[in-house]
Amino acid sequence: MVTVREKHTGVPWDGRTAYEKWVEDDLGLALHRGYAFGPLKSFPVAPWAERGIGAAFVDLIGAESLAGMFVGELAPGKSSAPWRQLADECIYIMAGHGNATVETAKGKVSFEWGPRSLFAIPMNCRYQLHNGSGSEPARFVSVNTIPIVYNLYRDRKFVFGLDYDFNRIEADIDPSEAVLFEPDPNHNKTAVNLYETTFVPDVLGVQRSSFREKGVGNNTAYFEMANSVISVHIAEHPGLRFFNPHRHGPSAFVFNLSGKGYSLMWQENGAMERFDWPEDDIGVIVPPNMWWHGHFGTDPVSVQLAIKLRSRKLPINHLFDKSHKHVSEGGKLIHYKDLDPDLRSWIWNTYVEECAKNGFEVMAPA
Ligand SMILES: [Fe+2]
Repeated sequence: MVTVREKHTGVPWDGRTAYEKWVEDDLGLALHRGYAFGPLKSFPVAPWAERGIGAAFVDLIGAESLAGMFVGELAPGKSSAPWRQLADECIYIMAGHGNATVETAKGKVSFEWGPRSLFAIPMNCRYQLHNGSGSEPARFVSVNTIPIVYNLYRDRKFVFGLDYDFNRIEADIDPSEAVLFEPDPNHNKTAVNLYETTFVPDVLGVQRSSFREKGVGNNTAYFEMANSVISVHIAEHPGLRFFNPHRHGPSAFVFNLSGKGYSLMWQENGAMERFDWPEDDIGVIVPPNMWWHGHFGTDPVSVQLAIKLRSRKLPINHLFDKSHKHVSEGGKLIHYKDLDPDLRSWIWNTYVEECAKNGFEVMAPA
């Protein structure tokens, strides 16, 4: 038995999450939705006044409201306002030079960034980004856990104003120092070089390993960043050959940094989404939870960066476990011959046609 205090027809709630309302109503910024998004280097940003930066927020379906993403821009000679958040964050620099200052319990940490720098902002550390150029804007992309945290607490002062130090990094260690974990023989723990660090000055300058499960010629390195739940990988794929598709959990943001091509994502016996990588720019796809996906380079080499809610050190679920192992080993990766014949011929014929448009022939799949 309940006592009815008031009575209404229908409900007044519009179905948006607290995070969506924070971006759209509180910040007054557009939230761009879809399966994929781009071009990120040239997409217009709007002022995020509180932080003194330009921003374009992107809410991709495959993030499942767990991780968020925005493109940020620092005007020439400007610094972002001091900011802290009860969330993990990973930043990739798309263009520009400057430095970052991060306040920790034991002192201030600062480092110089440039194009292709990758760094984590340790949980709840107040930080600023400074554009070192007086004439050029700097542009970055942030992947963060603000959505899951904000949706749980729904309180700006708590999420962005809590005075508490989690001590997730050591202030007296150079943030670019790394601990290297090399692959174990059976690739059960890590299949490629894994670097535990806070700041990577140039993500392409890191020694990668051959990633045999992904196919011949694939070179990859993993990163665990600042004791956060976000991890990263950088992968160089040879194009013009079949990419072994796989599937896994939500919130893996895959950025195409260079090369021509497209990504396919499909539900088991269901919808197919295609995203063409923006040429001379950067795009992002986030495969929805447990959708198969593959990246198809239509010229000789492509480079991808993935920033994802999949830490091997601090996992938040098991939806990425064994995503590099073949399905016959209990994994989540398939080969060309495993595909349904109709789907396989469509994928293959499309790929052959797309490569031919660039004047290339595709190697026969193994
Ligand atoms: Fe993936």
